[in-house]
Amino acid sequence: MSNFMEAAVLPAFGAATVFRIEKVPVPLPAAGQVLVKVRAAGLNPVDYKTRMGKGVAAANITLPAILGWDIAGEVVSLGDGVSKFERGDRIFGLSNFPQPGNAYAQYTVVDENEFAIIPKNITNIEAGATPLAALTAWEALFDQAGIVAGQRVLVHAASGGVGHFAVQLAKCKGCFVAGTASARNQEFLRSLGVDVAIDYHTQAFESTIEPVDVVIDGIGGETALRSLDILKPGGILVSLPSMYKDDPAVIAKAREKDVKVKWMSVRPDGDRMEKIATLLSAGQIKVKIDSTFPLKEVTKAHQLLESNHVTGKVVLTV
Ligand SMILES: NC(=O)c1ccc[n+]([C@@H]2O[C@H](COP(=O)([O-])OP(=O)(O)OC[C@H]3O[C@@H](n4cnc5c(N)ncnc54)[C@H](OP(=O)(O)O)[C@@H]3O)[C@@H](O)[C@H]2O)c1
Repeated sequence: MSNFMEAAVLPAFGAATVFRIEKVPVPLPAAGQVLVKVRAAGLNPVDYKTRMGKGVAAANITLPAILGWDIAGEVVSLGDGVSKFERGDRIFGLSNFPQPGNAYAQYTVVDENEFAIIPKNITNIEAGATPLAALTAWEALFDQAGIVAGQRVLVHAASGGVGHFAVQLAKCKGCFVAGTASARNQEFLRSLGVDVAIDYHTQAFESTIEPVDVVIDGIGGETALRSLDILKPGGILVSLPSMYKDDPAVIAKAREKDVKVKWMSVRPDGDRMEKIATLLSAGQIKVKIDSTFPLKEVTKAHQLLESNHVTGKVVLTV
């Protein structure tokens, strides 16, 4: 194996065209880490926000940097003390977030505690698409909102990366689930199992369904404010876009309406990845791939994701 590898390097914050494919040294795994031959790197909105120099992850990187946090690949070598994995294992996880994850490369090092074995029936592309979005949906529904069977849940951007996992996880739990997306994604929402699919262009969600216990909001701003009108007293809004964190208008209206509002920041978690792997393996949740691009076409992948209208996930293949 050469000591050098190809990576998509971010030399400066900027437009999607800023990436350069360069030869850089292959990293060495420290104690508790494994070296992974990256097969697929999933993209998330935080990738392009960071590329632009925005948000918490941008504050944590030193340029030039290698972006990306969702990784699926094979274990190549082990750092000291690694006990969870062996060479050749196929593993997936959210790496080091919100510190640099270095996923857009042929090799990267990851913490064994943040990763899990990829189920045999799941492809590398599916595995690379899953971690950040599925971990976010899980944390929003189960840790932040504490959903229980029989509750009513509304998921905004239900056709997106987080939303499509949130719909499936809430249905697995035995909830009534409504989801919002545009007309072209209504059939996709029904395929995920929603009880009601709402076209946000033509239907006001507040007047389309009865009040709900929980809203998972992947949009923020006006959508978060309006969502407070459809919560039952004591209900919970979990809002995801960090640019709207602690929105004073939302906090004031939530107090007035006697509902709770929470913002969260997803964390890597290998134990939880194992639970997600079990659900994937059993076919209880599925990941929808919108598009894949080879690493050298990272610019096109970012441009597509930035359109804010992907169905499911965009993945780089390495
Ligand atoms: N705080 C955290 O820890 C955390 C973690 C993950 C994600 N996030 C944030 O959560 C947001 C969603 O992430 P994601 O990965 O799910 O994004 P995504 O996959 O890019 O979402 C795209 C989807 O949003 C839908 N959409 C766009 N505008 C909409 C609207 N007004 N109403 C309803 N649906 C709409 C689109 O459907 P149509 O094409 O049909 O319009 C598309 O399918 C992002 O801002 C992301 O940064 C935060």
